[in-house]
This record gives sequence, structure tokens and C-alpha cells, in this order.
Amino acid sequence: MTRDGKSQAAFWFLAAGLLSVFTGLVSAVRPPHIVFILADDLGWYDVGYHSSEIRTPNLDKLSAQGVRLENYYVQPVCTPSRNQLMTGRYQIHTGMQHQIIWPCQPYCVPLDEKLLPQLLKEAGYGTHMVGKWHLGMYKKDCLPTRRGFDTYFGYLTGSEDYFTHERCYDIAPLNLTRCALDLRDGEEVAAAYKGDYSTELFSQRAVSVIKKHNSSKPLFLYVALQAVHSPLQVPERYLAPYSFIEDRHRRLYAGMVSAMDEAVGNISLALQQEGLWDNTILVFSTDNGGQTVYAGSNWPLRGRKLSLWEGGVRAVGFVAGPLLEKPGTVSRELIHISDWLPTLVGLAGGSTGGTKPLDGFNVWKTISKGFASPRQELLHNIDPLYSDLAPCPGNQSRLTLARGVAEDRWAKFGFNVSIHAAIRSSNWKLLTGYPGCEVWFPRPGYNGSDSGVPKLGPLKPIMLFDVEKDPEERNEVSAQFPDVVDYLLTRLQEHQKTALPINYPDDDPQCDPGPTGAWGPWA
Ligand SMILES: *[C@@H]1O[C@H](CO)[C@@H](O)[C@H](O)[C@H]1NC(C)=O
Ligand SMILES: *[C@@H]1O[C@H](CO)[C@@H](O)[C@H](O)[C@H]1NC(C)=O
Ligand SMILES: *[C@@H]1O[C@H](CO)[C@@H](O)[C@H](O)[C@H]1NC(C)=O
Ligand SMILES: *[C@@H]1O[C@H](CO)[C@@H](O)[C@H](O)[C@H]1NC(C)=O
Ligand SMILES: *[C@@H]1O[C@H](CO)[C@@H](O)[C@H](O)[C@H]1NC(C)=O
Ligand SMILES: *[C@@H]1O[C@H](CO)[C@@H](O)[C@H](O)[C@H]1NC(C)=O
Repeated sequence: MTRDGKSQAAFWFLAAGLLSVFTGLVSAVRPPHIVFILADDLGWYDVGYHSSEIRTPNLDKLSAQGVRLENYYVQPVCTPSRNQLMTGRYQIHTGMQHQIIWPCQPYCVPLDEKLLPQLLKEAGYGTHMVGKWHLGMYKKDCLPTRRGFDTYFGYLTGSEDYFTHERCYDIAPLNLTRCALDLRDGEEVAAAYKGDYSTELFSQRAVSVIKKHNSSKPLFLYVALQAVHSPLQVPERYLAPYSFIEDRHRRLYAGMVSAMDEAVGNISLALQQEGLWDNTILVFSTDNGGQTVYAGSNWPLRGRKLSLWEGGVRAVGFVAGPLLEKPGTVSRELIHISDWLPTLVGLAGGSTGGTKPLDGFNVWKTISKGFASPRQELLHNIDPLYSDLAPCPGNQSRLTLARGVAEDRWAKFGFNVSIHAAIRSSNWKLLTGYPGCEVWFPRPGYNGSDSGVPKLGPLKPIMLFDVEKDPEERNEVSAQFPDVVDYLLTRLQEHQKTALPINYPDDDPQCDPGPTGAWGPWA
């Protein structure tokens, strides 16, 4: 009896062991589908769940059932955010720390960088991209289809008309403004979509990728929407709910956000209808803060797109899907756009062995289970060539003053504090040089005391904020915490030592597609 009892126990023990090995195998062969939706220029105050006047029922619902990332950072402008998403590495490590890739600049994300879709493809994924690339296209090897995506439908430059899909650009060495089509299906020019509003066009394409996908293979779908970048264009029907918004630009912008929200709704519905949703991780993120010049808003945060203030880098983002272990929560852990590569490749059961040293962390346990973030520090950027691209209300004199003062203090700190840079460490954020437009833009529809030019004195070359207590960056505390300042300046200097020289070539006149051509590889 005893022996029987023992062998029975041994049998069940073995069976349980086998079962767990088996379920382990099953889950190992069923990596999740990954759908990454990137919005363009969507500001902190431009989603319903941040109490905006703009309505985003789909984003609100998906994020309420998922995990909202409220201490989540991106880069202040387009190419850099996309670059870090695709490489898991800081801009200083790809030589792309300055600005964006303009249509005629002959460079792209270095070809020896291994990108996220390549890693996922190696892990057995079908990889598809829809929308904006903006990571360089001067030669064919730079195109998404040569960098890990099985299929691609979208545009290669940074912005264009939502209906004609034309991009106009001043080709300086030719003294010529060229307007030409920028839309491709794979590597071929896609000329048949004139008049189709891109938010609808791209979400339709995303839905068709989902419908065609054989669910026995894991899917990676990267949807980089044009919305809600300028120009302000939207079909009339999306404006109907916004007659109460007096500012015409903000009204158009609100309509564009609504169209984008509908696109996200359509994509998540397709995932459900096709039976993929139960094994899907959906990430939604903006690429940078809102551009106030084109009616975006980051209220109550300071600054905007292109600046290192919170309004430029603190991002709207969330993760949705039934695989989250603590759905319906808000994460206040520090997470950065460079973290997606190790996180998603980890979920895919893939390997990051083929990449260069990563700056990102695998934050899945932080997102899914609420663990503390492995990320203690975040280098926002170091860009010695920085200048703002859009007019900032009041004023350039501040910039000059900051530089003048800074020169004296450079030697003392070992880091040239005239350089535009920012670094975050736990609750602290240090900024040096001119961080970009420093204004607290008013809440849309209000022009009360929150508005306008700060009443504080001129900017200082070194500024310290406790962004956990003071996310609006109103209370500059470098004088009270000199040790924190010294430590963070040392960290900046250490990072700067690892930086590649900036690659930012002059326009190549050979980029000109001519009067009937399309933007695309020329070299
Ligand atoms: C550029 O073109 C404009 C208009 O055709 C002309 O006035 C100007 O002189 C040109 N500049 C140069 C540098 O060629
Ligand atoms: C979402 O789907 C509906 C129904 O098919 C369609 O009418 C609408 O245009 C779609 N919206 C977008 C933004 O693609
Ligand atoms: C999906 O792929 C599996 C495995 O390759 C195959 O057996 C199945 O027939 C495919 N299904 C469809 C609908 O193509
Ligand atoms: C310090 O940085 C500023 C801004 O990038 C630059 O203009 C200046 O030349 C630098 N100073 C020195 C001594 O390198
Ligand atoms: C910017 O500064 C200049 C020179 O100090 C001044 O004339 C101008 O009014 C200022 N502009 C704003 C918007 O404050
Ligand atoms: C903003 O202030 C102006 C001038 O005081 C006033 O006429 C206007 O109605 C205000 N607008 C809003 C939206 O409060």
C-alpha cells in the first residue's frame, strides 16, 4: 500500500512536472502578437483621460483596461524617438543626437544597427509596418523593407499633406521648392491613394494586415500614424462634436485626434474579430510632446515638442491586452521609449545578442506586475548643435544670456554647460544650456494665470528640478542641492564621453525627384 501510495504520488508529481513543462513549451511556442501604435505629436493634454476637452473614448477604454504609463518618456522630436524605439539605444550612440532627418540629407539610422523588426523576425514573427518611417531613405538599404519588415505601406519623410500625400521641401543647394508624392507600398511608389485621408488609409491597411495574418505565426505590426502632426487637416465629419471649441486650429486638431482614436478602435476591433486579441500586447505611445504652434497642448507641463522640458518629453502611453497581470492600473515607474526593444524582444522569446550595447531595459515586469523599474536614470539628450525650429513667445535674449554666463563655469564642472542637455535620475532632472521653448502654454480655451511667459527670471545654464514633486518645472532648486548638481553634471560628462560625433550632413541636390517623381532613395 505504502509503495503504491508512494508511486502514485510519484506519478502525480511527474505528471504535474510534465504538464508544467508542456504548458511551458506551449507558451514558448505561442509568443504574443505585438501591435505598436505610435501617434505623431500628440500632447500630454490631448487625450480624454488627461481631462482634455478632446474626446478619445477608445484610448480611454483600452488604457483603463490596461496599464497607463504616467512616468513615461520619449524624445522631444520625431526621428530621435523612432530611432530609439527601433534600436533600444540613445541618440548619442548612433550619431543622431541632432534634430531630424530632412528629405535631402544623405543618411539614415546606421546600417550596422540591428532594428527591432529584425530581432522579432529572427524570433519567428511576421513583421509589418504601416505609416511614417522617418529614419532615412537616401539609399535602398535604409528602407523599412530592408531593415526587418516583411511588408511596408507608408511615407518615408517626416510630414506631408494628409490627402495628397505630397511633401514640399526647399532643396537649398538647388534654390528650389519641390512638392512631390511620398507614399509607398513596399518599395514601389503608391500613386493611387490621392484623396484618401491618411488616418483612415493607414488604419485600413493595418486592419487588412491583421485580417491576412495567419494567427499560428506571431505578428509584429508597427503602425506609425501620421496623426496628429501638422498640417491641420481632417474630414468634416470628425469636427461635428467640437463646435464648442472656439479656436479654429484647436478645433481642427481635436477632429484629427478623434480620427486617430477611431483608427485605434478599428485596429483593436480587428484584432478581436480575427481571434488574435487574447494573445496580443498592444502598445500605444506618442513620439514627442505636442506642438503648440499647431494647436497641440501639453498643459499643465512646461515647454513643448523640440524642448527638453517635460512638455517635450513626458509622453502619453499605455499598454493594453489580456496578457497584463495587473490590468486597470496606473504605472508611475520610470520608463523610456528605448526600453521597448528589450521588453518586446524579451516577450517574443527572442535574443538581443546581436545588438550593440543597449541603453534600454526590459520593463515588462514593471508594466505587467507593478514591480519597481530597473531604470534608475534617463539621459534625455546631449546636443551641442541645438536650436529651436519654431518661434517661441519671449525670448531669444534669454538664450544669449545663458550662453554668456555658462562659459565662465564650464571648466569648473567638466561639462560645457552651454550645451543643450538633460538628464533624469530618480526624482531629479538637470538641464543645461538652452532647453528649448520654456513657456507654460495656457490650457486650451483658458487664458488665466497659467498662461504665457514665465514670471521667473531668465533661464540659468544649470537648472535642477524635483520633477516628481514639481512636474511643471516651476521651482528651480540647483542652489539648494549642489551635490545633486555635481553628481548629474558628472553623469552628463560620462555620457558625453561615449557619444559618437554628430552626423548631420548637408542636403544632397541629387535627392530631387523632379516635377513628376516621388521622394525616395536616390543614392
Ligand atoms: C533663388 O531663386 C530666387 C527666385 O527665383 C532668386 O531671386 C534668387 O536670386 C535665387 N538665389 C540664388 C542663390 O540663386
Ligand atoms: C473605422 O471603421 C469604420 C467602419 O468600417 C469606418 O467607417 C471608419 O472610416 C474607420 N475609421 C478610420 C479612422 O479608419
Ligand atoms: C496557417 O499556418 C499553419 C502552419 O503553417 C498552416 O497549417 C495553416 O494551414 C495556415 N492557415 C491558413 C488559413 O492559411
Ligand atoms: C560650449 O558649448 C556651446 C554650445 O554647444 C558652444 O557654442 C561653445 O563653443 C562650447 N564651448 C567650448 C569652449 O567648447
Ligand atoms: C524679445 O526680446 C526682444 C529684445 O529683448 C524684445 O524687443 C521683444 O519684445 C521680446 N519679445 C517677446 C515676445 O517678449
Ligand atoms: C481671453 O482674454 C480676452 C481678453 O481679456 C477675452 O476677451 C477672452 O474672452 C478670453 N478668452 C477666453 C477663452 O477666456
